[in-house]
Amino acid sequence: MQSLAPWNPSFSSALSTELEKSRFISFNFSNTNEHGWPSTRTCVFRGFLFNDRSTNVILFTTDKRSAKYRELLKDSRFEACFYFTRLNKQFRMRGHARVISDGLYPELHIMERDEEAVMSSAEDDDETIKSRSQSGSGSPIATPTPEQSDATVFDLFTDNLEQANRKPINDPLEYVVISPSVPEQEKDASFTSLQDMMQNRHSFQQAKKEYLQLRLKPPTTEEWASERLRCWNMMSRNAKKTFKKPMPGSLLTEEKSKLLDSIDRNVDGTTSSSGYENFAVVCLFVDVVDYLDLGAGGADSRYVYKRLIGDDWKEYQVCP
Ligand SMILES: Cc1cc2nc3c(=O)[nH]c(=O)nc-3n(C[C@H](O)[C@H](O)[C@H](O)COP(=O)(O)O)c2cc1C
Repeated sequence: MQSLAPWNPSFSSALSTELEKSRFISFNFSNTNEHGWPSTRTCVFRGFLFNDRSTNVILFTTDKRSAKYRELLKDSRFEACFYFTRLNKQFRMRGHARVISDGLYPELHIMERDEEAVMSSAEDDDETIKSRSQSGSGSPIATPTPEQSDATVFDLFTDNLEQANRKPINDPLEYVVISPSVPEQEKDASFTSLQDMMQNRHSFQQAKKEYLQLRLKPPTTEEWASERLRCWNMMSRNAKKTFKKPMPGSLLTEEKSKLLDSIDRNVDGTTSSSGYENFAVVCLFVDVVDYLDLGAGGADSRYVYKRLIGDDWKEYQVCP
């Protein structure tokens, strides 16, 4: 029920290769401000949610006082772009961000909102799922319809009505992330039965009913709070200090300059945990991935992955 998305093994393997030589991995994170203006900046990849790759949820940390935080509260759509220089691979991801901060955490629903719409979009893909069950392969390369074949598949998926709407940060998200307290075997058992169900079902109504019954519990408020603390504890002393500095982006005055200096010299009279109130974790819930492998020797390949329902993804091979 919670399983690696088909893009995740290539992405994780690229992360590992890059980390052999680099201390950290940075990526470009973009959103739009309230005037619709695009905003891009460098951020550091902080691993996967709950330190569990199978959530497929990517983390970075930020200051609650930053512009991006304020903007994401109103419109949580994002694009993130990772380029792995050693492998010549790019992963471009779109989806919705959610934050874990003081009193705010992601609200996850599985198949509760717009359930009919989600089910009917999945129904369109019924043939794909059937062909998957016939071929027995885990992640088929689906053939787009002729109408789609000349369109740019990545844009096709993110420009549809559901995705194009602004989504405030406190809107519930339909995404499969199971509470870390659920034992691994139970997660696996549910995943296996869901897979079986999707492959062997006779009707969508039946699959839908069974799917809803199988729903496992999402993380609790306490688990979100400890995830924020886990991420804070991973930060270096210097990185923690930035959260107690004066308002990011505000005009530098003499007074602020003195404060910055005392923080840098560790003589500002605060403890190492101060600044935590400004610390937020941004969770990237990915819906579409555009993976470009420029490889070596001109053998380029490009895949687009779209999340259907729950953690069911569809893979398209597209022209590079
Ligand atoms: C190498 C590098 C890594 C950075 N990592 C982060 C990060 O993880 N989180 C973050 O909020 N800002 C990070 N920044 C700073 C942002 O790029 C940006 O300048 C700052 O967050 C303000 O952006 P905003 O005003 O759009 O919110 C990083 C900058 C650099 C150069």
